[in-house]
Amino acid sequence: MNEQFKNDVLDGLSANPKFLSSKYFYDKIGDDLFVQIMNLPEYYLTNAEMDIFSNKTDELIAALNCTNDRPFDIVELGAGDGSKTIKLLERLVDRKINFSYQPVDISQNALDGLESRLKTELPNLEVETQQGEYFEVLSSLKNTNRRKVVLFLGSNIGNMLDPIAKKFIDELSSNLNGGDHLLIGIDLIKAVDIVLPAYNDSKGITAAFNLNVLRRINSELGGDFDLEKFAHSPYYTEEEGIAKSYLKSTCNQEVFIAALDKTFHFEEGETIHTEISRKYNDKIMQSLIQDSGLQMCNKIMDNKEYFADYILCKS
Ligand code: AVJ
Repeated sequence: MNEQFKNDVLDGLSANPKFLSSKYFYDKIGDDLFVQIMNLPEYYLTNAEMDIFSNKTDELIAALNCTNDRPFDIVELGAGDGSKTIKLLERLVDRKINFSYQPVDISQNALDGLESRLKTELPNLEVETQQGEYFEVLSSLKNTNRRKVVLFLGSNIGNMLDPIAKKFIDELSSNLNGGDHLLIGIDLIKAVDIVLPAYNDSKGITAAFNLNVLRRINSELGGDFDLEKFAHSPYYTEEEGIAKSYLKSTCNQEVFIAALDKTFHFEEGETIHTEISRKYNDKIMQSLIQDSGLQMCNKIMDNKEYFADYILCKS
């Protein structure tokens, strides 16, 4: 991981315009900040999807075809703290449905937290965690004869550019068998006065989350970024439907990174692009799954219709 981090930082900071991948937000400190983001009043995404998982649980279970006729595995990509999924797991356990839960995450720290929480809250549930990047674990899906229900919640797919998201869905589909289901949670395109505050909260938690990538470069690669000299700078228009985050240099400055033995120059106002959070509608979703072998079977929304869980079936 460290070697890859080093190479990615070199590529991203040597590019014009500069960029760094949002996947590097997530270490122990970043995971904690993201949990705080999910609890912010401005970050409506979590509340909206929690509304679906808490109040439309039986609809989800029916749409995902979860019955005792055929035992199945729930595989969750990017499980994080699992707070929404637990609502579904509890209901399935209550209804005495047989299944196993296999959360996958890039962060071992997040998986450890989730595993210990499940041990106390749902002690009889069969849980098998897997640390890794999404693409790495996809291939292991097909190698069992149990039906798969794959969850990809929280609009995590929104961090991918459309062609990458499409490739991801294609690859995911090719690792599914007939009768498997994929649930994708996505944030719907809506007005800037709702979306932008979610990425620019008043407490500055999102700013700290964005800056965490620089803090990681300092601690893991011997960088000397002065975090006070970079400002969190989010951007969104409803026409485009993509929230973008940048770190903007507040002055002319040089930053040295020991692991790269290299100095990077930043102009005043120069940006590092760190994240996209794409928002969707039916048309965009339809084009993402076109020719993937997956069909749109169902769409379940929260009461405010801010967010949608799309249920896709492999035929
Ligand atoms: C975890 C990727 C869904 O893009 O909304 C939250 C991450 N970034 N605030 C998102 C995030 C800034 C989040 N996802």
